[in-house]
Amino acid sequence: MRGLFITFEGPDGAGKTTQVKAFAEALAQRGHDVLVTREPGGTAISDKIRGLILDPSHREMDDVTEALLYAASRAQHVREKVLPALARGTIVVCDRFVDASLAYQGFGLGLPVHKIKEINEFATGGLVPDRTYLLDIPVAAGRARLQARAGLDRIEQKEAAYHERVREGFHTLAKEHPARIRVIDATQSVEAVAQEVLADFLRWLPSIT
Ligand code: TMP
Repeated sequence: MRGLFITFEGPDGAGKTTQVKAFAEALAQRGHDVLVTREPGGTAISDKIRGLILDPSHREMDDVTEALLYAASRAQHVREKVLPALARGTIVVCDRFVDASLAYQGFGLGLPVHKIKEINEFATGGLVPDRTYLLDIPVAAGRARLQARAGLDRIEQKEAAYHERVREGFHTLAKEHPARIRVIDATQSVEAVAQEVLADFLRWLPSIT
């Protein structure tokens, strides 16, 4: 049986990484075979590309270069890690995927969204998540959480208006794909968010198996 591909998205500072971990642990406790991974990254080559993209000294990086590097990192990750795990029947839980490129490089930077879709379809061979949790948080609240952490990367350093467009972009995607993307209020406590995600997943699972 093919596994399941579950992704987590949201503006910076929404708490995705914590929630990905909690979700994967809850599934493992229920006896599922789970693989946690992230983008950009997830493989040695993809992690090197991540370093290039996020390096704060790369101020001259062109927007098109940035979009292609995210797609390149993704191509390697999907082929080397995600597809083989899905073929083994594993539940792959991924911190960000194509929706992030549509929101950040498309809606955020203003690159044509259809072009971002096109390069990502090529990169992934058309792989689409089975379910996506969009952890939503107002930009100011997300940034306040990030500032409590040391050192912002090149993307996190961009101005608030850019991050507002990204958040709006995520909302647009959620409206376009209501059956796949679940919007979760990430201003709630860590425990409440984790419970909401798991409850949704457990309700949804029987409908597809
Ligand atoms: P992370 O903070 O979730 O690890 O992601 C690193 C940054 O990269 C974050 O600011 C979001 C951004 N990003 C994009 O702009 N496009 C993408 O396709 C992905 C996967 C991440």
